[in-house]
Amino acid sequence: MSENPIFNPERIKIGAGKFTAGKIVFGGFFGDEGKGKIVDITCSDYKKNGYKILSIRGQGSGNAGHTVEVNGKKMFFHYLTSAGMEADIMLLGAGMLIDPVRLLDEIKQLPENKQAIVLIDERAMLCCDLDRKLDEWIENETRSTGKRTIGTTKSGVGPATALRALRQHPTFADVKSCKSKEDLYKIIMNRPLVPMRIMSSMTMEYAGKLFEAVNQLSIVNGLEIISNCREEGYAVLLEVSQAVLLDPLFGNGGHFVTSTPTTDIGAAAGAGLKLDDFPEGSTMVLKAYSSKVGGGPFPTKFKEDEAAIADVIYRIVGECGVTTGRKRDLGWFDAVGVRHSLMLSNCREIAINCMDLIPKLAKATDKIKVCYAYRKKETDEVTYMWPYDLSKYEPLYIELSMTEKTDEQIIDDYIHLVSTVIGRKIDYIGLGPGREDIRKL
Ligand code: IMP
Ligand code: MG
Repeated sequence: MSENPIFNPERIKIGAGKFTAGKIVFGGFFGDEGKGKIVDITCSDYKKNGYKILSIRGQGSGNAGHTVEVNGKKMFFHYLTSAGMEADIMLLGAGMLIDPVRLLDEIKQLPENKQAIVLIDERAMLCCDLDRKLDEWIENETRSTGKRTIGTTKSGVGPATALRALRQHPTFADVKSCKSKEDLYKIIMNRPLVPMRIMSSMTMEYAGKLFEAVNQLSIVNGLEIISNCREEGYAVLLEVSQAVLLDPLFGNGGHFVTSTPTTDIGAAAGAGLKLDDFPEGSTMVLKAYSSKVGGGPFPTKFKEDEAAIADVIYRIVGECGVTTGRKRDLGWFDAVGVRHSLMLSNCREIAINCMDLIPKLAKATDKIKVCYAYRKKETDEVTYMWPYDLSKYEPLYIELSMTEKTDEQIIDDYIHLVSTVIGRKIDYIGLGPGREDIRKL
């Protein structure tokens, strides 16, 4: 058969390969459930089985935060994945919003041989000082008018997402095509709807910094990388930042949410992946209690007379946001929230971290509580579904008496109760901060 320049069988093969190993790790509460540890053990599994790893993100921005420890040195990542140290390729996907200067600083923390594996999808959006200033300005204006604020991480992800929808925001493909800082300045200044008081803070010097950083990053066609990894038999591991209860569509009342999708499915789409790229499905990560940063209702939050319980957690775990340094609010396990996250996800396995805290909490109180339903304050109507406006509801609890039980019994009883109210088996529990503290049930 003569060569046909249009029908080239070699080209048609692209996208035909399949990942034979792949998993999504996502949070089922409000973030900070300890996804990193589950990512860690998944990576070692893949390595043991001889896979190379494509570690990938599909949403979020520098609002994410996780601590990674390498050779005793603690590193704080906001853009990079927690699988960074184990991965062979790390792709920051199309659905992300990235500050090139901050990303470059993060990359420079990595050992030299790991710095080159970080790739940025050209479809990802730029996020910079202007977006952060806009984020801060919006929050301050809202507060000054007495309206409820979101308590964002002020990383600019909200305004940048809004400007993307208005087609007034550059992608990495746009910034990569800039020949000079003047070019870059021009495309960043194309924001007719942003107030002058914000825009006037943009300088040519800062454009120069962004330009320099962009030129040191590897900006690629993400789908081509994914396609190559499929062909070459990589395992794919998608990390979802934030968590389902912060999802812009299905999260907390549609107001107190982050700006990009936080379900496993939304994050996969943001990276250019589909669910059958993940033969092992998704693993939902939870904590034995719940925590939350930022504004918005948090009905299971410990009451004032339960401060001693919160103190136990603050003493042992710390619970400060990695991005903002804010002390997280703490509360009881919310099974209604978990069922909501299950409803929206392709969850195959469930991991619950910080289970070692439960016996310790039991010493500070005689009853451990789990929220199984909500009651509408006005009408007393009981719902088992996650309500749209949580502020109108109060939690209903099942209480577990913990007196005269050993730590083992307390943990067993707690797992049994939680498993019953969420209607699912628990697959892993975390009994401490390390990878070795994960126990498979
Ligand atoms: P933004 O994502 O910075 O716009 O913040 C929106 C909401 O999501 C706020 O309530 C933040 O505190 C929360 N949020 C954003 N990122 C994280 C995270 O990584 N963990 C926990 N909460 C987060
Ligand atoms: Mg975090």
